[in-house]
Amino acid sequence: MNDLKQVIIKCLEKAMPTSIDDLDKFLEIPADASRGDYALPCFPLAKILKKSPALIAQEIKDKIVIDPQYIEKVEVVGGYLNFYGNPQTFVKHLLENFDPKKEKFGSSNIGKGRNVVIDYSSPNIAKPFHIGHLRSTVIGGAIYRIYQFLGYHSIGVNFLGDWGVQFGKVMAGLSLWKDEYTFTEGKEIDTILKIYVRYNQEEKEKPELNDLAKKWLKKLEDHDEETVQTWQWIRKISLENFQKTYRLLHSHFDSYHGEAYYNDKMQDILDELQQKHLLKESEGAHVVDLEEYHMPPCILITSAGTSIYATRDLAALKDRAKTYDFAKALYVVGAEQQLHFKQIFKVFELMGYDTYAKR
Ligand code: ARG
Repeated sequence: MNDLKQVIIKCLEKAMPTSIDDLDKFLEIPADASRGDYALPCFPLAKILKKSPALIAQEIKDKIVIDPQYIEKVEVVGGYLNFYGNPQTFVKHLLENFDPKKEKFGSSNIGKGRNVVIDYSSPNIAKPFHIGHLRSTVIGGAIYRIYQFLGYHSIGVNFLGDWGVQFGKVMAGLSLWKDEYTFTEGKEIDTILKIYVRYNQEEKEKPELNDLAKKWLKKLEDHDEETVQTWQWIRKISLENFQKTYRLLHSHFDSYHGEAYYNDKMQDILDELQQKHLLKESEGAHVVDLEEYHMPPCILITSAGTSIYATRDLAALKDRAKTYDFAKALYVVGAEQQLHFKQIFKVFELMGYDTYAKR
């Protein structure tokens, strides 16, 4: 029934009072289905023909010859000419194609040779996998399959939140209270979570715990062997836990490169920003000014000298563009991260990269 549009275009070509270059783009799909399957807006023609859009629509209607096998009726509503396809033909066409094509029905090859990178699920290790992650896992998984169905090469990336202050907390908590807990095989993550929650609670009354967590994170950043091993262990058991959900949902990831993977790749992006004169100092932090684009500055190095989420996402975006040469890079995340991504995409564009939106 894709052909319905072509049938309408054929009819219109003979009935149009003036020639329109791209009738294909001119036809709209009405938001309200009761207004037909396609609509021709006659407003742009009014200027050229110096007549009201409604009159133009009526004149086209009077002239048009329709084949009832495909078009059931044509109606003038306001300045629109609305076309209604013949549902019997549509259903027949659907059934004829559906059976032989089976599960391939509706698939296509429009994406052949093009890569789509879908960042989804992306939970934070040593923290609960919450409903937002489940939502992203389900929606991201559906998008992954839809693109595959359209002939694209889908690449699923699980950008694990496997770095950051939560590790400092878990490790500090382990150092303080490890002996008070039991770690049941296969359920270690539950104990880790308990420690994490306790740490957050006790921190409210004991601010010195905040410094202790930072100290442990620093140890991790300095590659202290024992700390790195604990981190690897937590990452492993967290991932094993997430896999249970992924197995149930048949989620597939082609990469688990999370935040930690970009630790040694951030300097490159910072150097590039510097070289392109995009980085400036503001209140001790290093930022890309986005005032011109009505956004707050994108902070890449905090006043404490540390990199942040945005630094890692920017490094990851550059890495994905290089590794996959994507036609599209999609992120399935909560709405509260909208500004973060608008900033990242803008900075990437300012760096001179082609953003996915233009491809
Ligand atoms: N770990 C983040 C969270 O739980 C989501 C990450 C989304 N992806 C990204 N590239 N930033 O909120």
